[in-house]
Amino acid sequence: MLAGLKRLLHHVPLYVALQKGIGADRLRYRCIEALDLHDGDAVLDLGCGPAYYFERLPKVTYFGYDTEQRYIAYANAKWGDKASFRCELFDDEQAKTLPPIDAVMMLGLLHHLSDEQCRQLLELAGRVLAPGGTVISVDTCFEPTQGRISRWMSENDRGEYVGEPSRFTNLAEEFFGKVEGEVVNDATRIPSSHWMMRMQAPQLSS
Ligand SMILES: C[S@@+](CC[C@H](N)C(=O)[O-])C[C@H]1O[C@@H](n2cnc3c(N)ncnc32)[C@H](O)[C@@H]1O
Repeated sequence: MLAGLKRLLHHVPLYVALQKGIGADRLRYRCIEALDLHDGDAVLDLGCGPAYYFERLPKVTYFGYDTEQRYIAYANAKWGDKASFRCELFDDEQAKTLPPIDAVMMLGLLHHLSDEQCRQLLELAGRVLAPGGTVISVDTCFEPTQGRISRWMSENDRGEYVGEPSRFTNLAEEFFGKVEGEVVNDATRIPSSHWMMRMQAPQLSS
């Protein structure tokens, strides 16, 4: 049954409705608020999916990347006149096409990626940041205070790399001089635990 539900999520409008239904959108809005964005800022959204939170952003110059064509098609149909949605793996070549970026969003991304894949994207995110810029991430996590339902949600998340907050902070600290995070367990309507993490001061290797 769980596998069937996960297959249904391939239908993008259904996926978006479910995300909003369970309150996953509120978690995204919290991340956007934490970035304190202003009109004219440049924003890079890695693993943007259908970007259903796009309208919560101020008038920013937005670049969204996702490797799933159906998500990019959905986002382009809705907001393609106001933003750049690219169906590409974000790599060195793509990074070179961007202006200095004030904020990088990785919303629900890192817990889908192996440590090595996380390292590649965190390094690139640090590289494209403008001075004073911020990277924000939010991911399903395991944490000791979570209840049974929340733990079940973490165990059954579609992401294969759900971990404890230390997994995410240890990776982030390899690339950023300032890393802060908090467990968010009151944003969604179904009990669940997420690790929201802010990264600043990239430490770039030459
Ligand atoms: C769980 S979704 C999150 C989508 C959206 N940010 C949200 O909060 O709803 C994670 C997305 O990351 C995308 N993704 C994974 N690795 C990626 C990569 N290296 N470059 C671009 N997108 C990637 C996947 O296709 C997937 O749509």
